[in-house]
Amino acid sequence: MEELSWESVERQIENCRRCGLCQRRHSIVLGEGNRHADIMLVGEGPGADEDAQGRPFVGKAGQLLDKMFSAIDMRREDLYITNVVKCRPPGNRTPLDEEAEACLPVLRMQYRLIRPKILVCLGATATKHVYSPEARITRVRGQWMEKNGTLFLPTYHPAALLRDESKKKDVWEDLQSLAKTYAAIRAKENG
Ligand code: URA
Repeated sequence: MEELSWESVERQIENCRRCGLCQRRHSIVLGEGNRHADIMLVGEGPGADEDAQGRPFVGKAGQLLDKMFSAIDMRREDLYITNVVKCRPPGNRTPLDEEAEACLPVLRMQYRLIRPKILVCLGATATKHVYSPEARITRVRGQWMEKNGTLFLPTYHPAALLRDESKKKDVWEDLQSLAKTYAAIRAKENG
């Protein structure tokens, strides 16, 4: 079997046709940021701006994401950002289970390459496919779970905040919890 590397991941997704999303995409949006990051963010799937530019979270939701993380003093260079599906679902609909299933091996490879200390699930789709299939975002947001040496934190997707401002308070709490947990991990590592 081929050794896992970023090059092998890139080769495997080149011209990917594992699900129907390949038909209308303009780009395969693998992800970007720091491949040695301690913190990995997983969203749902590329929107129109991401599909056009080939980069994750560059539209309105992405601008809010940048603001949210800068409020806890984290920049894109500190994080690795990707999505459950790497190709845009038409009309930004939620990815079908079969589309997510087809794409999850790519996310698993990214996870194994990065081995983040913390993985933040942004929204219901990432929470369902990464955190737990039974989890409902409204119930589990803010609840840390440890799996395979990584701490998982589900929170609302920034696009949900753009639709419903009342969720901002909860996300702010989750971000504070993230900053505190990460600071504790760093303090422990540095003795
Ligand atoms: N929404 C997502 O879930 N991911 C993106 O990359 C952009 C918007």
